[in-house]
Amino acid sequence: MVRTEINTLLQRVSVGTRVNVKGWVRTFRSNRFISLNDGSTIHNLQCVVDFEKMDEELLKRITTGACLSITGILAESLGKGQKVEVLVENLEILGDSEADVSKGDVYPLQPKAHSLEFLREIAHLRFRTNTFGAVFRIRHAMTYAMHKFFHDRGFFNIHTPIITASDAEGAGEMFRVTTLDPKNPPLTENGEVDFREDFFGRQTNLTVSGQLEAELAALALGKVYTFGPTFRAENSNTARHLAEFWMIEPEVAFADLNDNMDLAEANLKYLVQYALEHCADDLAFLNQRALDEEKNKKKEERSEMSLLERLQFVVENPFERITYTEAIEILEKSKPNKEKKFQYPIQGWGTDLQSEHERYLVEKHFKKPVILTDYPKDIKAFYMRLNDDGKTVRAMDILFPGIGEIVGGSQREERLDYLRKRMQEMHIPEQELYWYLDTRKFGTAPHAGYGLGFERLLLFVTGMTNVRDVIPFPRTPKSADF
Ligand code: 4AD
Ligand code: MG
Repeated sequence: MVRTEINTLLQRVSVGTRVNVKGWVRTFRSNRFISLNDGSTIHNLQCVVDFEKMDEELLKRITTGACLSITGILAESLGKGQKVEVLVENLEILGDSEADVSKGDVYPLQPKAHSLEFLREIAHLRFRTNTFGAVFRIRHAMTYAMHKFFHDRGFFNIHTPIITASDAEGAGEMFRVTTLDPKNPPLTENGEVDFREDFFGRQTNLTVSGQLEAELAALALGKVYTFGPTFRAENSNTARHLAEFWMIEPEVAFADLNDNMDLAEANLKYLVQYALEHCADDLAFLNQRALDEEKNKKKEERSEMSLLERLQFVVENPFERITYTEAIEILEKSKPNKEKKFQYPIQGWGTDLQSEHERYLVEKHFKKPVILTDYPKDIKAFYMRLNDDGKTVRAMDILFPGIGEIVGGSQREERLDYLRKRMQEMHIPEQELYWYLDTRKFGTAPHAGYGLGFERLLLFVTGMTNVRDVIPFPRTPKSADF
């Protein structure tokens, strides 16, 4: 018999039909009620067995985590919590959930609430929980919606390299890629490692950003975007940093900073709206989950809005747009700064903003997403366009409540002489980026783009609070299991 997925069954199959379902046992109550989940939806399907008619040995094998194939009649359910249930006619065990209790070996996912920290340690099994099922279905929907957003606007998806020889952000946070033997590398006459002998004949690393290559494509194809993994060896063990994360980087020819802000704001709103429309069941579950968590918090630490209210709020309200200079003025006058509550005090114009400052602006001062523009050139990357004041650049960062920076971007320096000067000041050798400079030599054009951190977006959409819980297998300092 053809299998029906539970999601389809709940939406489209009428009572009285004989169906086959396959999935994993979440709970088995009173030797009678099997709660089955097949991953197609957050909802479990209740399957009712008549234990008197069932083989006792078979009955014993229906344990949490076991995989079953069930055939039976779909019927209206009299019990609470579900409209329909399956009256089991035939039950086959596809995979026992074996555990040798005598040796202390138990299936780690018992039908009770587990902490997220514990589930991170068993990331190979956490897909099987309601929370992670919801998170990863939403992650898929957001991936699809991201491509749809750009495709519908005439953008072309470009696959930029994962192994590169350049450091696009100039922050030196790169993972080296090499085939040389670390114990016995070939040496030059000066006793240094001879990378000419390495696989690529030079030093290479995992990319920190696809931007520079995306710019090359944008200056021919007009509107492009990348959506790929990026790698940063920054040793920040925070709830917002991963060593391997996914980034979306659009790049648009003939666009200035305002166009860039408009695109990024539309991009974020579209994705949140898409989630509200297409992930309603999973969001309802995560909303309730977050509300339950809030109950354990002190009153003053509880958020003013629920997850669903926050999502709705972002879709409906324009983001605040202010310059870095204005932000510094607000922060200098702010209560936490005067009362020396910031870990990093604001030390005048030029101070690099920390996440505590960003969150003050977003969560306390404006109470909505904020776009900060025109940062001092000295705290930003070499490729950003210099303003006429000679000291700020056409940068933009989008800050979100509970997250901090979610997007970083800029209008690019398209003037060859300015770009060269900036690279000299920052000691970036021209010969390494000759290909990048060529676009400024041959038919340069104003252009702009940004990078959207996919996991940061997912934090916002799912209401999860640690970036390790929105990527299947997180890579962080001292942790690369699974
Ligand atoms: O601000 P960033 O470093 O910008 C760039 O890489 C530019 N090349 C983007 C561009 O203009 N095309 O990173 C962009 C975004 C951040 O705003 C943040 O959302 C995310 O990437 N991000 C991280 N997410 C998780 N873990 C990390 N370690 C991250 N570092 C940056
Ligand atoms: Mg940034």
